[in-house]
Amino acid sequence: MKNYNITLIKGDGIGPEIIDEAVKVLDAVASSCDFDFSYDEALMGGIAYDMTGDPLPQETINKSLNSDAVLFGAIGGPKWDNLPREKRPESGLLRFRKELGVYANLRPAVVYQELINASSLKPEIIKDVDIMVVRELIGGIYFGEPKGRTEEKGWNTMVYTRSEIMRIAHQAFRIAQQREKRVCSVDKANVLDVSQLWRDTVIEVSAEYPDVELTHMYVDNAAMQLVLNPRQFDVMLTGNIFGDILSDEASMLCGSIGLLPSASVGEKIGVYEPIHGSAPDIAGQGVANPIATIASASMMLRYALGEIEAADKVDSAIKKVLKEGYRTGDLAQFDAKEVCSTNEIGSIIANYLDR
Ligand code: IPM
Ligand code: MG
Repeated sequence: MKNYNITLIKGDGIGPEIIDEAVKVLDAVASSCDFDFSYDEALMGGIAYDMTGDPLPQETINKSLNSDAVLFGAIGGPKWDNLPREKRPESGLLRFRKELGVYANLRPAVVYQELINASSLKPEIIKDVDIMVVRELIGGIYFGEPKGRTEEKGWNTMVYTRSEIMRIAHQAFRIAQQREKRVCSVDKANVLDVSQLWRDTVIEVSAEYPDVELTHMYVDNAAMQLVLNPRQFDVMLTGNIFGDILSDEASMLCGSIGLLPSASVGEKIGVYEPIHGSAPDIAGQGVANPIATIASASMMLRYALGEIEAADKVDSAIKKVLKEGYRTGDLAQFDAKEVCSTNEIGSIIANYLDR
């Protein structure tokens, strides 16, 4: 029987609760599709700092690189907010992405018809929205030098090289070829030199994909267009910080940030994680929505392991459970038949895999 070796990084806040539910669903789908998982836990974030003094122990990088895929929960919390920057949980995550070389962050924002009333936007605006944000993840202002701060001044630098832009642009065009064949590249080329290079390079790469339509949008306009007419977008190609912001915005088209999965991929290995954070305010109460993590596990099945049938089963179980009105607290006011705990909704999804 095929056995996949998965590194689990539960992290902080609600991380452990939501990962436990994803593992429950993964085990259930594996036994129904005749393969197997072995899991190895690794530390990152605040808990790693507390236990080892480092938010990203080397062992976590080694384990991850030696596994078939990484399933990641969330990191961070107020407890660690006042540490020096390099000790903070977020620095561990950024270093992790860099070490693993996961330069492409894929964030689908798909509106579940079953939750069409859950968005703050009108149903007719969000109906049939299906956007893929392709966010560059290991460059841009998150990593650029010089950076620093004194008492009076703080600075970061947005840097992109042509080759960094080219590889993420290729990803976006290849993904678009599997979808509606439209890429909207987001930049601030009217102000930033780095964005002008971004735009010129994306245009150059687009020549290799004549079947894909390329448009460009300034990031401020893109933020507006996302709520004005989100259906106009198929693939949105963005740099690191613009994609961070726009993917949170896109999540609200779908009703709850607790629903949206992501995949971070590169040449070596993929990291699968919900787009939301560690939600320290609700941690440990059993009310977190594990669906984003379960959907991330499904992306892992599909993209890292090639277990398409299993991924389809998980996706359709999520849809059926939502359709039947099972909701966690974040979605309780939207046609809920039953409000469930984190643990309950995970079990219900696991039970719906073969229905
Ligand atoms: C995300 C998060 C991270 C980011 C933080 C936690 C460093 O917001 O994955 O979107 O900014 O990339
Ligand atoms: Mg973010």
